[in-house]
Amino acid sequence: EHGLHPASYPWPHNGWLDTFDHASLRRGFTVYKEVCAACHSLNLVAWRTLVGVTHTADEVRALAEEYEYDSEPNDEGEIEKRPGKLSDYIPAPYPNEQAARAANQGALPPDLSLIIKARHGGCDYVFSLLTGYPDDPPAGASVASGLNYNPYFPGGGIAMARVLFDGLVEYDDGTPATTSQMAKDVTSFLNWAAEPEHDERKKTGLKVLIVTGALWALSLWVKRFKWTPIK
Ligand code: HEM
Repeated sequence: EHGLHPASYPWPHNGWLDTFDHASLRRGFTVYKEVCAACHSLNLVAWRTLVGVTHTADEVRALAEEYEYDSEPNDEGEIEKRPGKLSDYIPAPYPNEQAARAANQGALPPDLSLIIKARHGGCDYVFSLLTGYPDDPPAGASVASGLNYNPYFPGGGIAMARVLFDGLVEYDDGTPATTSQMAKDVTSFLNWAAEPEHDERKKTGLKVLIVTGALWALSLWVKRFKWTPIK
């Protein structure tokens, strides 16, 4: 059973030369940290990779230090707690799958590192899913108990309830945190997590086109120059 096909949204990074909107990525991290991180891990993202993308190095260091990590065993073999540092990975909310399922009525909140690439529809799907919980499910729409009606989720019944509500987070750039704004920002952030090379790739593509274009023009000119006496 397929979910409802999401609308096609004009993502700021959609164009073939468009890079991510980094102010949106920064807001999206805030949403991940304050909402999604309660249940979803982001196992492939190290703190250091946020530097220059969403935050300054000092800001990321301060964020990492908010979390505790196990130290290397000391001479007595004891493991102590230490604050996080840039080389650490963003910590997961649960120690293992059993704990994750136990906290979510048996359902497993998937790791979000690659979710934008893993799900058909990518950004459009995740945005639609987050904003697609109707206040009143349509007549006849019934889902198993413990599940929430969401037409975008294949099957229509999802273990995750609606999590975004207007004003849930406070953005440090003053952007009003409406439900759709938060959904847009966190989706863009998760797209960056899944494709951290995205901006470089597009910039490199442009350089390749400029250089091959110039070489092509030059070769055309040389060819004409060489063949002039023969024609
Ligand atoms: C599933 C995103 C917050 C619990 C999912 C899925 C996505 C997602 C993309 C996968 C849907 C699929 O499989 O196609 C997010 C985002 C969040 C967020 C972006 C923050 C804005 C939360 C929170 C909880 C939660 C706070 C727990 C209270 C779950 C669970 C599932 C899930 C249990 C599995 C659903 C199922 O398989 O039926 N979430 N989520 N999520 N999420 Fe979240």
